Amino acid sequence: MSFRIRKATATDQPRIHAIRMGVSENVLSDPSKVTDEEVAWYREQAIFLVAEVDGAVAGFTCANHQTGLVWALFIDKAHEGRGLGRALLDAALDRLSAAGHAQAWLTTGAGTRAERFYLRHGWQDMGHSLDGNVVFVKPLD
Ligand SMILES: CC(C)(COP(=O)(O)OP(=O)(O)OC[C@H]1O[C@@H](n2cnc3c(N)ncnc32)[C@H](O)[C@@H]1OP(=O)(O)O)[C@@H](O)C(=O)NCCC(=O)NCCS
Repeated sequence: MSFRIRKATATDQPRIHAIRMGVSENVLSDPSKVTDEEVAWYREQAIFLVAEVDGAVAGFTCANHQTGLVWALFIDKAHEGRGLGRALLDAALDRLSAAGHAQAWLTTGAGTRAERFYLRHGWQDMGHSLDGNVVFVKPLD
């Protein structure tokens, strides 16, 4: 399967929103907590990438070049297990590294496919945050 990774645009947002709301794990408990302003900031000033398959967005990631946080990584269910998650994450980590970070961090739900995915890909489990999510860190080259 061929795919390409590119910067997200405002036009992608309805599809990105649909992918975010379509997951069965790491469900957004309160969608109002993610504001349009925050999404636009990631798109315009931080790191916001999409993976396209046959011209359609199949997954996305957001990362914060100020803090080293990987804020989001979501793949459309129909496209899981094909390497898109790994490729998007690698692309985000390359950009964090280029921005000067020695380490990236993120949080994810305990017992999820995502938790297993991060463990397989060299992320270190730092324990639980106050909201019960697992905190992961990864050194960057
Ligand atoms: C967790 C998540 C991002 C992983 O994305 P993904 O695209 O399914 O992951 P990948 O395909 O890159 O890797 C997963 C496994 O798929 C398999 N895989 C990778 N490439 C493959 C290919 N070309 N063909 C078949 N299988 C493949 C591998 O087994 C891989 O594991 P490995 O890297 O140890 O070999 C995705 O499942 C997801 O969006 N989950 C729901 C939302 C969520 O919880 N997001 C995280 C929020 S913090």
